[in-house]
Amino acid sequence: MDYYKQIFKRKSFHIFKDTDTLTSDEIQELKDFIKSVKPLNDEIKTEICIVPEKETTCKRGGEFCILFYSETKDEYLRNIGYMGEQIDLYLASQNIGALWFGIGKPKDMQVNGLDYVIMISIAKMPADKFRKDMFKSKRKPTSEIWNGNTLGIAEIVRFTPSACNTQPWIVENTGCDLMVYRFKKPGKRGIMPADKVRYYNKIDMGIFLFMLETCLEHENYTYERTLFLDTTDDSIEQTLIAKYTYSNK
Ligand SMILES: Cc1cc2nc3c(=O)[nH]c(=O)nc-3n(C[C@H](O)[C@H](O)[C@H](O)COP(=O)(O)O)c2cc1C
Repeated sequence: MDYYKQIFKRKSFHIFKDTDTLTSDEIQELKDFIKSVKPLNDEIKTEICIVPEKETTCKRGGEFCILFYSETKDEYLRNIGYMGEQIDLYLASQNIGALWFGIGKPKDMQVNGLDYVIMISIAKMPADKFRKDMFKSKRKPTSEIWNGNTLGIAEIVRFTPSACNTQPWIVENTGCDLMVYRFKKPGKRGIMPADKVRYYNKIDMGIFLFMLETCLEHENYTYERTLFLDTTDDSIEQTLIAKYTYSNK
């Protein structure tokens, strides 16, 4: 899977229009792909199911929803974000449109003792409906999310998707380490309650870590990843969640 290439193509289909139908082969391939997805932490049990969109509260015109269930321990939200983004990028490669859908609820809030976390709505789309020029997408400028040498990575990873486009990340490049922080502007209140923002932003950070690793690999960097617990309650602006010690291949 060339994940990097799909970063430029993926987008959120907030409403699915002019959809095609997924064939049983495409659904089987998706299921096979899902089995190959790599977690950040393989000690957290997860299950990923595919159900018709109409069996959920998501009404965006998708054909199916991919439901993520997890043990709610350690950094399970970030783990789901990391796994889900692999699927989001795979879907783009197959001309399957996707929408991370935080506000949705499935019929079953538990599966085999695992709690529901989030869903992605999907539908087969014509190839020309995908993103044509990623650089036109609305995002924070690079200077706001990255300090130090950008390595040709910051310019791309800044297009990572996030809930309500909050982009809750900041990276500091020390010259040998990328220090990755979850960022929350103190006092800034959006439309979502603070605990909801934190919930989604923790998923966003997992999405971001997968994108960052994809970009590092594309630019021929090897890296060693160290993960930190994300324990703060947002009284602190920046929470260090990961460190990537990198070097050129
Ligand atoms: C964790 C997460 C949850 C999201 N939840 C919703 C949602 O509930 N409703 C919605 O319309 N879009 C949702 N989105 C889509 C974002 O609004 C979208 O990714 C962001 O605006 C960037 O746009 P792009 O994905 O087209 O690049 C969600 C995205 C993420 C990553």
